[in-house]
Amino acid sequence: MSSKPSFSFLILFIFSVLPLIFCISTNAPPPPTVCIVGSGIGGSSVAHFLRHYFHPTPTQPNPPIIKIFERRSIVGGRMGTVSIGGETFEAGASILHPKNYHALNYTKLLGLKIKPPPSSEDDDSMSFGIWDGKKFVFKTLQVDSKFPLVQKIVSFVNSFCLFFRYGFSLLKMNSFVERTVDSFLKYYESPETRPVFETVDEMLKWAGLYNLTTRTLQDELIDIKLSPLLIEELITVITRINYGQSVYISGLAGTVSLAGSEGGLWSIEGGNWQMAAGLINGSDVSLHLNEKIQSISYLGEYYELNSTKGNSYSCDVTVVATPLDEVNIQFTPSISIPERKLQHTHATFVRGLLNPAYFGLKAVAEIPELVGTLEDPDLPFSSISVLKQHDEKDATYKIFSREPMADALLDSIFSARLHTIRINWGAYPHYEAPEVFAPFILDSQHLYYVNACENAASTMETSAVAAENVARLILSRYFSEGSMDSSHLKSFSPAADTSHLDL
Ligand SMILES: Cc1cc2nc3c(=O)[nH]c(=O)nc-3n(C[C@H](O)[C@H](O)[C@H](O)COP(=O)(O)OP(=O)(O)OC[C@H]3O[C@@H](n4cnc5c(N)ncnc54)[C@H](O)[C@@H]3O)c2cc1C
Ligand SMILES: *[C@@H]1O[C@H](CO)[C@@H](O)[C@H](O)[C@H]1NC(C)=O
Ligand SMILES: *[C@@H]1O[C@H](CO)[C@@H](O)[C@H](O)[C@H]1NC(C)=O
Ligand SMILES: *[C@@H]1O[C@H](CO)[C@@H](O)[C@H](O)[C@H]1NC(C)=O
Ligand SMILES: *[C@@H]1O[C@H](CO)[C@@H](O)[C@H](O)[C@H]1NC(C)=O
Repeated sequence: MSSKPSFSFLILFIFSVLPLIFCISTNAPPPPTVCIVGSGIGGSSVAHFLRHYFHPTPTQPNPPIIKIFERRSIVGGRMGTVSIGGETFEAGASILHPKNYHALNYTKLLGLKIKPPPSSEDDDSMSFGIWDGKKFVFKTLQVDSKFPLVQKIVSFVNSFCLFFRYGFSLLKMNSFVERTVDSFLKYYESPETRPVFETVDEMLKWAGLYNLTTRTLQDELIDIKLSPLLIEELITVITRINYGQSVYISGLAGTVSLAGSEGGLWSIEGGNWQMAAGLINGSDVSLHLNEKIQSISYLGEYYELNSTKGNSYSCDVTVVATPLDEVNIQFTPSISIPERKLQHTHATFVRGLLNPAYFGLKAVAEIPELVGTLEDPDLPFSSISVLKQHDEKDATYKIFSREPMADALLDSIFSARLHTIRINWGAYPHYEAPEVFAPFILDSQHLYYVNACENAASTMETSAVAAENVARLILSRYFSEGSMDSSHLKSFSPAADTSHLDL
């Protein structure tokens, strides 16, 4: 057989089909561009869920082009690692809860490995103490035994000590936290039956969590009759470790931070930032690193994003996936969101050895591996924990504080200090009940704000939940406009709900 007949057939085929393709492509609108500012868990999750939920519709048959802009040279935002003395540790967001289902799904999807939290192979093995500036008001028993039975007895005695000090309040606290965690699980219900929310208020009301944002944690806990000692000590220690703040934070942020002290916590081997990296890699995104967005202007029909590199980008949809409180983005027309302060947390990493004399103790071994502190303005740090014990005279520690840790102060707390690394995080909102929320939709067009949700609670998982909602908002508001497809995407409004009850 000669190849000529088939070649000419091919030519014929191309010329007869080409006009058809051309014709189709001129009728269909070009793929819209979605621009995302920020490559943390929020921005990367928006990209992931846009791809996951996108279905071609008659009005928008083409999947969007997705661009992510990140001012830094790496992705992950507040998920990031620090290397000290040749080892790598989480510098920002470190722990995940066993019911953080988006994070669990990401881990599976991306083939990442789960690891138990730092220096606690099982949850009971980390010794713990509460420091009031002069003495330890509470300290767990410390017995380093290789015998599991001895460890079991020690952990039992420790639970008993906790129980002896705080009584039944501990159980009340647990069931209060469990109830709240259960309400949160509503956000994992099937998208077929779960509404898309235009505001954080609606989203929280739907799950029954809104009221917890209107009062302080302290007021909530007094209501359920928790002992004042438990609130003043253990609970204060926990809110100081997780949010760098006191029990005057909102009930919801407070409960989330209490959930972050439960058992079964985990993180990702090699760093939590790999969730963002993997989601971006798997979502067909064009990633612009080292490119800070300076201005976002709505020019009618599209947004113009200008960057510090002098580039201009046209975007049909724009998503802000970073807190706007400390970044300087110029919006045209201007937007108005409630004022919010960020709580700064100084994370100081030290390789060396603690000085027992600072704590009025004789030996380093007597210092608990996790030292929490009470709410006292004279206390210079919120917590100190051992990240890794290299040998008896050499360990890596992490200190959280509200102010930077000066060298002189560190020299009094440590007897040896080989390496020190300081990171100043604009960490999370400074919570103030009643919370006021910015909207998810900043301009009633197609400018979205994932981090409006951070006033409820700031965690990797809540960012993912907010991002999933924003992705669904974009798909229902931009991609399904006027098409039949939007009918299954119910929008939630309390008023509509009441009228439904009347039927
Ligand atoms: C010390 C610390 C400990 C924490 N511990 C935990 C924990 O144990 N568990 C937990 O779940 N959460 C924890 N958190 C909270 C958690 O880190 C955040 O809630 C979460 O990571 C927020 O993710 P995000 O994507 O919304 O924002 P970010 O991670 O802040 O991402 C925003 C990104 O946007 C980029 N950006 C900002 N402005 C611009 C611009 N103009 N142009 C381009 N890019 C820009 C930033 O560089 C950043 O990468 C902790 C936070 C801190 C600081
Ligand atoms: C996690 O993935 C499974 C399987 O793909 C899916 O059924 C489930 O709904 C996902 N969970 C969440 C919270 O998205
Ligand atoms: C929240 O508070 C309001 C007003 O106090 C009350 O009517 C409502 O029942 C509360 N909702 C929940 C879920 O507790
Ligand atoms: C990126 O995704 C591809 C598959 O889409 C995978 O083969 C590759 O390992 C991923 N790379 C990283 C760094 O995750
Ligand atoms: C953005 O850049 C374009 C092109 O350089 C310029 O015309 C426009 O004025 C810039 N917008 C803002 C808000 O600076």
